[in-house]
Amino acid sequence: RRPEPCALVIFGASGDLTKRKLLPALYALAYRKLLPDRFAVVGVARTPQSSKAFTAAMKKAVKEFARDPFRQDVWDQLAAGMRYVSTDFSDDAGEDTVGRVLEELDAERGTGGNRLYYLAVPPQAFETVVQEIGERRAREVWVRLIVEKPFGHDLASARKLNELLHHWFGEDEIFRIDHYLGKETVQNMLALRFANGIFEPIWNRQFIDHVQITVAESIGIEGRAGFYESAGAIRDIFQNHLLQLLALTAMEPPIDFNADSVRNEKVKVLKSMHTPGPKSVVRGQYGAGFVEGVEVPAYREEPGVAPDSLTETYIAAKLYVDNWRWADTPFYVRAGKRLARRETTIAIQFQRAPHPPFEAIAGDGLRPNVLLIYVQPDEGVSLAIGAKVPGAGMTIRTVHMDFLYGGAFRTGLPEAYERLILDAMLGDATLFTREDEVEEQWKLVDAIVGGWQRERPSFPDYESGTWGPKSADDLIHRDGRSWRRH
Ligand code: BG6
Repeated sequence: RRPEPCALVIFGASGDLTKRKLLPALYALAYRKLLPDRFAVVGVARTPQSSKAFTAAMKKAVKEFARDPFRQDVWDQLAAGMRYVSTDFSDDAGEDTVGRVLEELDAERGTGGNRLYYLAVPPQAFETVVQEIGERRAREVWVRLIVEKPFGHDLASARKLNELLHHWFGEDEIFRIDHYLGKETVQNMLALRFANGIFEPIWNRQFIDHVQITVAESIGIEGRAGFYESAGAIRDIFQNHLLQLLALTAMEPPIDFNADSVRNEKVKVLKSMHTPGPKSVVRGQYGAGFVEGVEVPAYREEPGVAPDSLTETYIAAKLYVDNWRWADTPFYVRAGKRLARRETTIAIQFQRAPHPPFEAIAGDGLRPNVLLIYVQPDEGVSLAIGAKVPGAGMTIRTVHMDFLYGGAFRTGLPEAYERLILDAMLGDATLFTREDEVEEQWKLVDAIVGGWQRERPSFPDYESGTWGPKSADDLIHRDGRSWRRH
């Protein structure tokens, strides 16, 4: 199904996201003929530049960042409907320019009055932009808003944003992005669990010992000190990506794959989550070190970061989902920057076999089964099982049954933004975060951050290129368990 004709208006188009993610995603969609027949893209930002200059910069970005080879005919089609409007968002004259350009495009390109607004603006500009779009909405046929993160700074500010949005728009017109939901491997969690008969019967506290979710990054803050200093790992990754991965792992089967059915189930998980006590959450901050052989500075030495910053670049927590399926089953989660490697995984660790007859001769072989979901990189799923080592005796070793995307499917994996932009054009909000979901996520964050205010961490406490602070190991070792080996 191809989306209806529409114009995509990117607010904040001079930023990095447009260049690195949005335009390459649009190009990939154009390449596969998934864009509407009649389509236009309008970049809006403060930076003064002509449409010609913007289009040229986007062409360069596509050449640099797109996953497909550059094809002039595909590009020409996309570029024909590309415009740029330079405006200070609070300036009414600018707002009219956007409206005028859109009307021209409707006439020229036949975009039919449908609008998809992509809000990639800094939080200070958000209100003005929403208001301007809201006030003009009578002229549009359908209107949808994609809202980038951060969605607020805490529960109170997120509620305010929701109120602001709902003053003008219905929930079905609002598409809050969590780009992890656009990742193939994340969606595959739903396929794995609900398209197979063998996992669900054992997907619960009776068979699962615990779950580990890791979002490890080797990169630092990449020049984003302004944002990161006030966000930290808890707001940047935990509040959104990590909790979404947890919700998908823990949710009940939805009755269908509609936006509300799926999101209802995720909200139930978030609502049943226990606020972790202070001993169940640890935070850390990276010092200098070597990542993949390259020397890197400490967080506090990054440009724009306060020399005594207490912002965390690592968080680990033991969380519980208080319902029948999961009571007393810990979910150990961790996320951090400047760790040894980039790796996002969900590991479901099953209980040990109740009575292993070979224990005496097994060496260290009798490990519990683990179902490992490799979200990225090396996307795939792997089941660790015990197998007999060939030869005399009965020695058991852990081996892996693997499904690798690269081996099973010939097509490359699409980027998250391709799927999400396309879904928004189609009006499908299944892979976007709903109002109540985002608020539940903030509730948990607020409770944790509230506890942090009472203590002063001694940072830095982990070296770049390691797997995080010692306190994170202590957190899991106390329970007689350990983080999955890398
Ligand atoms: C973003 C965070 O949401 O996700 C970044 O703001 C982080 O700090 C990024 O680096 C990670 O995304 P991915 O797709 O590279 O895992």
